[in-house]
Amino acid sequence: MGEHYFAERPETASRTRTIDLVLPDLHLRLETDRGVFSPDRVDLGTRILLETAPAPPPTGNLLDVGCGYGPIALTMATRSPQASVWGVDVNARALDLARRNANAAALDKVRFGLADEIDPALRYDAIWSNPPIRIGKPALHELLLTWLPRLTPHGHAHLVVQKHLGSDSLQRWLNDQGFPTERIASRSAYRVLHVSARVSDRPQEGPAQ
Ligand SMILES: C[S@@+](CC[C@H](N)C(=O)[O-])C[C@H]1O[C@@H](n2cnc3c(N)ncnc32)[C@H](O)[C@@H]1O
Repeated sequence: MGEHYFAERPETASRTRTIDLVLPDLHLRLETDRGVFSPDRVDLGTRILLETAPAPPPTGNLLDVGCGYGPIALTMATRSPQASVWGVDVNARALDLARRNANAAALDKVRFGLADEIDPALRYDAIWSNPPIRIGKPALHELLLTWLPRLTPHGHAHLVVQKHLGSDSLQRWLNDQGFPTERIASRSAYRVLHVSARVSDRPQEGPAQ
């Protein structure tokens, strides 16, 4: 059986290649490799997210959860050049590629790292993700419960999920966890979910004076 794309240190021999991400507003050349997610072309779900999500906030902190070789984070960094963009992953080979891809595109306000290399006090105005559904429900829920509470009070997340991999049940679960979640797009077999910050994570407002 092939190695999972979420191995921390892929053992598959490296064979890099370059692919193109062409969207109406940008063109990025991206180096990919074996042992990372979707090395032969930008994943269709990722493309649908990038074609569907509204422009990210122009400033603040933006996050890509499960960044792989960086197509989502680098698109956010291109669309919001004043913002600080962060990409987190577990796969060291993917993180190396993402850093190289940022350098090649001269995007210097984007940083990639493991979860414990990113300041837990940071709060994000937008989180975009093609999340790793295949790690299984408990791990996926833990991952989302690590990062979604770090949205700013008016922050939003956009998640792309395949219908047959459980987009509807994920939407229900997010709502049950207190994150108001709606489906904003449905294309091919994919759904794009729009997730708002959890009301209970918002700072308490003082009594009206
Ligand atoms: C579906 S892929 C998307 C990759 C990339 N964003 C793209 O669009 O091509 C999900 C990514 O999540 C990563 N991942 C798996 N478990 C993770 C975790 N606990 N924390 C962060 N990233 C994780 C995988 O290594 C993989 O790169």
